[in-house]
Amino acid sequence: MLDKLATLADLIDGVAVAREIRAEVALDAAALIARGVTPGLTVVLVGEDPASAVYVASKEKACKEAGMNGETIRLSATTTQGELLAVIDRLNADPAVHGILVQMPVPKQIDPQAVILRISPDKDVDGFHPVNVGRVWIGDQTGFAPCTPAGVMVLLERAGVKVAGADAVVLGRSTIVGKPMTSLLVNASATVTVCHSRTANLAAQTRRADILIAAIGKPEFVTADMVKPGAVVIDVGINRVTDANAKNGYRLKGDVAFDAVRAVASKITPVPGGVGPMTIAMLLKNTVRAAQQREQQREQQRSEQHIQHPSVLHP
Ligand code: GUN
Repeated sequence: MLDKLATLADLIDGVAVAREIRAEVALDAAALIARGVTPGLTVVLVGEDPASAVYVASKEKACKEAGMNGETIRLSATTTQGELLAVIDRLNADPAVHGILVQMPVPKQIDPQAVILRISPDKDVDGFHPVNVGRVWIGDQTGFAPCTPAGVMVLLERAGVKVAGADAVVLGRSTIVGKPMTSLLVNASATVTVCHSRTANLAAQTRRADILIAAIGKPEFVTADMVKPGAVVIDVGINRVTDANAKNGYRLKGDVAFDAVRAVASKITPVPGGVGPMTIAMLLKNTVRAAQQREQQREQQRSEQHIQHPSVLHP
């Protein structure tokens, strides 16, 4: 009978990997601080959306725990687009600010795309600016990838999953997850298929996946019959489903029917405790990298000035 017992997929522990990343970021931050530069993230929150307020507070706290500066600018819900763009201009020009994040969604009088376009690409640690989308697509390592798909890549790497040559299927084509996930996987030499609400015979596509990334925003959408035995399943979904027995009246559910799929897959991320904790860790990592890259640019400018005007330094 023993051979009839299904083996359960190994859990990919996002809490543990996020802790590792945050410890590495703290070391990088300390090295910059020793050179007189404290990496700093400024988050701009417009309005009083309670969920956004919670996210923003946790970003600020995580920055401080990594030894970085974390500041939040809170603006009223009636802020005009012009007022917000003026705040972004000020942050773009502030050398103490290395990363800028405007928490989405913004109130309806503000066009989110205008906000994204105004942030300097070199401070766009969200990776939403089209310049960063392009840099990530062409494999330019100085570009910032959005934090959630960047976190998925780190989870795959640290779980020892071979991405090069693998068939990867991305379920969902959002600007924040599905599309950048696709570009990161292609650049890591996976063969990538992107599926979405109009995909014909979806299960036939997902069953081909060695690596299945579920980012479709529908609770328990991926069922065991959609998964190839031995596949690696990454669940990006964070869906609130009502649960009268839960303290706050809801429970978090992923896009994957976890218990059934765990019996088929070889590795799987849980919800919560999988991809979720990686997002803030990668935001910190992007911010420290923004500070490192700014310092490198300044050093390069100094050496170029020295080549062009050597007599200034050595009369
Ligand atoms: N709102 C929810 N998640 C995010 C995020 O990753 N970045 C921004 N800017 N807003 C968000």
